[in-house]
Amino acid sequence: MSETLVESGTAERKVFIKTYGCQMNVYDSQRMGDALRGEGYRETDAIEEADLVLLNTCHIREKAAEKIYSELGRIRVLKAERASQGREMQVGVTGCVAQAEGAEIIARAPVVDLVIGPQTYHRLPDALRRARAGERVVETDYAVEDKFEHLPDASERQIRTRGVTAFLTVQEGCDKFCTFCVVPYTRGAEVSRPREAVLAEARRLAEAGVREVTLLGQNVNAWEHTDAAGRRHGLGSLLRELAEIPGLARLRYTTSHPRDMGDDLVEAHRDLRALMPYLHLPVQSGSDAILKAMNRRHKAADYHRLVERIRQARPDIALSGDFIVGFPGESEADFEATLALVREVGYAAAYTFKYSPRPGTPGAAMDGHVPEPVKTERLERLQALIREQQTAFQASFVGRDTEVLIEKPGRHANQRIGRSPYLLPVVIPASAGEVGDIVTVRIGDTRPNSLMAVGAEPSDNLPPLSRAMRFETATLARTIA
Ligand code: 5AD
Ligand code: SF4
Repeated sequence: MSETLVESGTAERKVFIKTYGCQMNVYDSQRMGDALRGEGYRETDAIEEADLVLLNTCHIREKAAEKIYSELGRIRVLKAERASQGREMQVGVTGCVAQAEGAEIIARAPVVDLVIGPQTYHRLPDALRRARAGERVVETDYAVEDKFEHLPDASERQIRTRGVTAFLTVQEGCDKFCTFCVVPYTRGAEVSRPREAVLAEARRLAEAGVREVTLLGQNVNAWEHTDAAGRRHGLGSLLRELAEIPGLARLRYTTSHPRDMGDDLVEAHRDLRALMPYLHLPVQSGSDAILKAMNRRHKAADYHRLVERIRQARPDIALSGDFIVGFPGESEADFEATLALVREVGYAAAYTFKYSPRPGTPGAAMDGHVPEPVKTERLERLQALIREQQTAFQASFVGRDTEVLIEKPGRHANQRIGRSPYLLPVVIPASAGEVGDIVTVRIGDTRPNSLMAVGAEPSDNLPPLSRAMRFETATLARTIA
């Protein structure tokens, strides 16, 4: 009956989507939201008013996966409350926990109506219909069809409400099989989205006003395209084409594997002004023995050489990374090799994790598991070093000019918030420009996780802006350096 109401436009269903984990999940949640809009759903931030609740989950570490079950416990209460008012609340689990634990979720959490793995989101509308008919749906195949080609595009309005920066998934899955990681099992083999589909989506985003696109992939730099003549082109060539799209002033990509950093991609950093000088390049450990046990298939020295090549191509580049401490067999000396690598490379930021054994991965079955207190102690030491580097990196901007893409209004009426090329939030005076503008501002001060432009805070004793701010047009911003 409610479907008739939807068709006649008098009632809308509401969907609440909660996203865990990586940016690829953020992107997938948006695409699911787009797909559901066509089915008469509107997104809501209030879970209690939702007719459909989707938890888009992450399986990367144990904690992330366990969170889902406690969240489902809370949802069970809400669902019962709605049922007592004669209202429905369908509950779906999507993402990597869905893929890894499909049937187990159904068995363990009776509140769940449907479980859909990351490769089958285009089947969501059909799954909802089946669930409404009483079936408890589990869809966790690796679909042969490309889900993105079967999901509707976002409307211009939807793109605009998401702001001037956007994610765009270009690659999924992983063939690397690092021994700690569940991704090859939850997201499947490496698949690149077709070049034309990516370019068309990027053009649509730019036409709607998006200024910055972050290309996403579990192994984004493994993206490839084979042309009609059988020649293979990598991510560098895709970035070159994207940099030509009018309006797209900033390009980023994440996450990269050191082994897939080809010459063409390094040269793109040299040539493309739109390609931001900030690269997430996880190394995980600085010890060759641990890198080998992790099946990373490179040594610490290879990583150093690669960083040097990248810095030669783009001297102002800053790096971020991921590190795991306490991988099975990690000795104090191995851990110190990680500290040494961090000292030598110098990071603008980094994500640090205690090793978390994941069922079904080779690491979980290895000998030499490191006791939890040792992991904790190493994590703290590594984090202290990284914090030091991060603080020094941020402080290095004080007194310098930096380009800021204005993203949103600030907390105060006379402020706006933007981001520097290095993803640092920058608080700027509202007079500097409008959302979507790229302006150059002088940094006056730092806050724990942001930069303050000169004049951003009227209460500060900073001198007012002494010079006219330079506004960049999209064309200028895309000029090849
Ligand atoms: N334990 C701890 N950290 C992990 N990561 C991936 N798998 C695990 C695990 N089992 C980290 C890696 C990866 C990031 C996304 O998560 O550092 O780069
Ligand atoms: Fe996981 Fe390694 Fe693949 Fe990254 S490269 S997704 S860490 S298996």
